[in-house]
Amino acid sequence: MTNKTQISVKSAQYFATQTLDWYQAQGRKHLPWQQNKTPYRVWISEIMLQQTQVATVIPYYQRFMESFPTITDLSNADEDNVLHHWTGLGYYARARNLHKTAKIIQQEYQGSFPEDIEQVIALPGIGRSTAGAILSLALNKHHAILDGNVKRVLARCYMVEGHNGQSKYEKALWPIAEVLTPEKGVAQFNQAMMDLGSLICTRSKPKCELCPLSESCLAFSLNEQSSFPQKKPKKTIPEKQTIMVIPRINQQVLLEKRPPSGIWGGLWCFLEVQHEDEIASLLAKQNLKQTSVQQLTKFRHTFSHFHLDIEPIVIDCEQLPVKEINENSQQQWYNLATTASVGLAASTKKLITLLKP
Ligand code: ADE
Ligand code: SF4
Repeated sequence: MTNKTQISVKSAQYFATQTLDWYQAQGRKHLPWQQNKTPYRVWISEIMLQQTQVATVIPYYQRFMESFPTITDLSNADEDNVLHHWTGLGYYARARNLHKTAKIIQQEYQGSFPEDIEQVIALPGIGRSTAGAILSLALNKHHAILDGNVKRVLARCYMVEGHNGQSKYEKALWPIAEVLTPEKGVAQFNQAMMDLGSLICTRSKPKCELCPLSESCLAFSLNEQSSFPQKKPKKTIPEKQTIMVIPRINQQVLLEKRPPSGIWGGLWCFLEVQHEDEIASLLAKQNLKQTSVQQLTKFRHTFSHFHLDIEPIVIDCEQLPVKEINENSQQQWYNLATTASVGLAASTKKLITLLKP
């Protein structure tokens, strides 16, 4: 590795030794994806952990692995079933990319995960840091990682200016991560860096007194921990409104599958209108006759880039005849008494739970 940083070999060695010793004593070693480590198992965990806390991920991970124990199983699964396993985790593009990538690995690599980092980075949904994590954690290959937690540790130790999403920030941090990553014990080192970031070098009130890096940490030495990473300028996100129309006949509600892209892509949702006066024509189009109407409490669902204020309206309808529902219409009457085996958007799931008989 060429050294494009000011970090000497000696101080890089000190950093690695401190980190590895701490890992032996304090690091996490019993997470489900740390048992029977394979690139497949680590890949799934890394994708689930991208926007989600460890404690939330664990049950999802276990159910996912039970249903799809191998890449081949995942590649053969229905997208609906894969999304069902993601219901509640959010950021569904992650699940669609997992499925797409499993198919690619099945076709191009006969179902075994590629071990060349460039081939891994070329797969949908896998960036440089995730690729490095998969190959280092599962196979002990010598690659650096730089996820959000690791960035924060390094930014503080070396007082690197900038914040997440700024390219100068990442450009400054990658060479540092590479210089520090030891040849020996790379799997433990990388896991330790993530653990340090999430357990010790936390966003607010880092526990520097417990940190193995405090003797060499620049921010600590100047009591400037809270200045790194720098604060992202706050952007206010827009508020949008929608009315969710919930036609109901005998404990069945009408759901519609969203087109593959956009919010809730590929997930099952209620029909939506912008204004109440559009409801009548929507019902007519579905060949439904309303008998009574019930407003449910409004609630807000926040996405990364906007708030959505949802006004749910249950419309009890007369028994059939309703329009035939077929595969191509992307609609189904969903029985409230059953458990879903399709991917439901979080807000759909919430409303279904509320309406359960
Ligand atoms: N976040 C991302 N990857 C992780 C891992 N392997 N262990 C704990 N937290 C993580
Ligand atoms: Fe983070 Fe404090 Fe450790 Fe520095 S000394 S790496 S600021 S926890």
